[in-house]
Amino acid sequence: MLIDSHAHLEMPEFRKDLNEVLKRAKDSGVEYIFTVGTEKKDWRRALEIAQSHPSVYAILGVHPHNAKEIDEETYPTLKKLCQNEKVRAYGEIGLDFFRNHSPRDIQLKRFREQIGLAKDLKLPLVIHDRDAHQETLEILKTEKAGEHGGIIHCFSGDETMAKACIEMGFYISIPGSITYKNADPFQEMIKKLPLESLLVETDAPFLTPVPFRGKRNEPSYVKYTAEKLAEIKRVPFEKVAEITTQNALKVFRLNLSKE
Ligand code: NI
Repeated sequence: MLIDSHAHLEMPEFRKDLNEVLKRAKDSGVEYIFTVGTEKKDWRRALEIAQSHPSVYAILGVHPHNAKEIDEETYPTLKKLCQNEKVRAYGEIGLDFFRNHSPRDIQLKRFREQIGLAKDLKLPLVIHDRDAHQETLEILKTEKAGEHGGIIHCFSGDETMAKACIEMGFYISIPGSITYKNADPFQEMIKKLPLESLLVETDAPFLTPVPFRGKRNEPSYVKYTAEKLAEIKRVPFEKVAEITTQNALKVFRLNLSKE
């Protein structure tokens, strides 16, 4: 059994064949998928998918790209939607200093605000950090963001950062890019992190792992990421599947016997 801790099933890329995508996931052993609604237009769709499929849960928040769109209605709306028991985390929030779709000062302000909101909601956080490692770490520390746990999604920092995040109560989530040819330094770094702190994710429809690189990504492909992780850690695939699944159930506070 595997869990895809981060996908975007509400995106238009899955509009036509969502049911087949979910069936292929199940057939590949992907028992649960966490779909992340990153902006206003996607929240209801993400929650709708989660409510109509027992294997799907939702994560809601405002992506750093969309930080500039936050207005006075945003947080009350999110607060209400996040009361739903199918919403298991708040995110993805953070900093993206690579694309800078929103001005940096606004990203920083909205990041801090949303950590506060997630803490009020007692939800774990899903963090997006691209080219902003130092600032992200600093904010996570000063805002005591690890209070309810969380995930550094699509982790791209170094070993020191990974360990600091783990120390604060975060899991490190490994995307399909770990299968890429130029991923050696990243693989070396992952080798040094305990499996007990790792999750696997697709970030579908993005970041498609080898052997499907270049095509649309989908949750069933998370097995290629888990296979690569097993190879890097020199442990059986089953062990990676079991431990990353337990980790995901822990951070999202899912009790399988109750589901
Ligand atoms: Ni994402």
